[in-house]
Formats: sequence, structure tokens, C-alpha cells
Amino acid sequence: MSDDRDIPAGDALDVEAIRCGIAGVRLGDPLVYFPAIGSTNTHALELARGGAAEGTLVTTDDQTAGRGRVGRVWKALPGQQLILSLVLRPSFPPHLLVMASALAVAEAIAAVCAPNEGDNTPEGDNTPQVAIKWPNDVLVGGKKVCGILIETSEGIAILGMGLNVNGSLVGDAELATRATTLADAFGHSISREALAIELLQRLDAAYTSLQQGGDEARRVLREAWRDRLITLGQRVTIRQTGGQGEATLTGVAQDVADDGALLLRRDDGRRMVITWGDVE
Ligand code: BTN
Repeated sequence: MSDDRDIPAGDALDVEAIRCGIAGVRLGDPLVYFPAIGSTNTHALELARGGAAEGTLVTTDDQTAGRGRVGRVWKALPGQQLILSLVLRPSFPPHLLVMASALAVAEAIAAVCAPNEGDNTPEGDNTPQVAIKWPNDVLVGGKKVCGILIETSEGIAILGMGLNVNGSLVGDAELATRATTLADAFGHSISREALAIELLQRLDAAYTSLQQGGDEARRVLREAWRDRLITLGQRVTIRQTGGQGEATLTGVAQDVADDGALLLRRDDGRRMVITWGDVE
């Protein structure tokens, strides 16, 4: 008996290829794989509370109860996404992890899917832009391809990343206007293993420098994250929904502060410092 969620054997994530590609890299060791699981973030938190080593990675081909930010659901595309949750114990402030993770995802996508990004050739002009929407959504060609959920408790941070890699969202009436897959955006399928390796290597390098402290690592990270921010200079609506009440704020996203907060110029001229919310 099979159903829509069954993944043909050859299409399952090649976990051994990822292990080989990240040999010597701390983030991703050990790598724990499930063909299907409720939420990798929930499982990673259970492992962390049981003493799992920093760098432990939980991944799956099919997340049946994926969680997004502010209580949203993260939709599964069985066998076609990269679903990753890392156990971390950062000694630096959370906003730096927000920046480092979004930047590592954006740079890994650019390296694997658009190696000629930034070339001033006519071909380069057709490459969809890989950008970050404040604070940490990763967009390709203006549509979301990756959501990041960081959950912290008792010195533990679970960094959960969901990347829409292969398959298509074109027929999804609800999501297609604002989300896409890398395959749809770049016009060809992408190796999930190559992307996972690139991402874990980049994240490991950034995380290690942040753990070692040093203002220079923070400055370099902030600049690179800011350079990828598509939000700056745009007229935006910020929706804040959740435990701290509800608000909708509109204005121009002028800049970001050192701690990553968004500086919003409201229509009445007031400048507001925004530390959380969804940008539209
Ligand atoms: C968002 O944009 O709302 C964040 C989505 C985060 C989804 C990832 S997939 C891996 C990890 N496990 C979860 O249950 N959620 C995160």
C-alpha cells in the first residue's frame, strides 16, 4: 500500500553523501535521519535536553507536523525539501544567530544554484536574486524559499531551517504568490545533498567565529547580512501577531541597527525601532 507521502527509494536523502561532505565539520555531527518525523525542531530539543552534543543535526525526508514562526504550520513537500534542525549552545546574542543562519542559507543557495551571481554578463542578468527579507526569510526572485525557526531555552538554541528545494509550488493556490522552490526559481532540479553540505560548512565557519568572540567576526557578519537585505529602502507593512499583542505598522524600512533591529520611518515622520514581526 502506498500513499502520496511515500518517497521512492532512489529519491530519499543520501545521508552518507552529506556525512562524507561535512567530515571534520562540527555542525552536523552526529547526523540523525528519519524517513518521516513530526517536527525536527521538537525532536532536536528533546535530544538537547537529554544532553546531545552541540552540532547534532536532525533531518528528515518528510516532516508531518512542521512548525513555523508565530504558530504557523510549515508545509511539507515530501522528499523534496531540506529539513534541518541543529542543536546549538551559543555564547553570543540570539540576533547574531538569526543573521548567521539566514546569510549561510542565502550564500549556500547562491553558490550551488547561481555560481555566476554578480557577473555583469547578459546571462548573469537572468539569474534570480537571492536575498534576505528581514529578519531571516530567504527569498529567490522575490519569493520565499526558506523559513528559519530558532527556539531557545535553558542555554540551548534549536536552529530549524526548511528549504523548498525541488518539486513545484506553482499549483498551490495558497502559497504560489509568495513562496517558491529552488527548482521553480532556477529552472532545474538541485542536489539537496550538495546544498546541505555547502550550508553546513558555511554555517559552521560563521558559528565557530562567533563562539570565539571578537568584534571583527560580528562586524563582517552584520555587513554581509545587511548587503543581502532586500527590505532596506522599501515601503513595508510589519505585522506583529502573538503573545505581545497585535499591531500593523507601515512606513519605509530605512536601516538596521547594530543588533539587527529594523529602523522604520512611519508616514507621520516618527522613527520606530522594530525588533520582531513579519514584513510584507
Ligand atoms: C517560518 O518561516 O515560519 C519558519 C519555518 C521553519 C520550518 C523549519 S523546517 C525544520 C524545522 N522544524 C520545524 O518544525 N520547523 C523548522
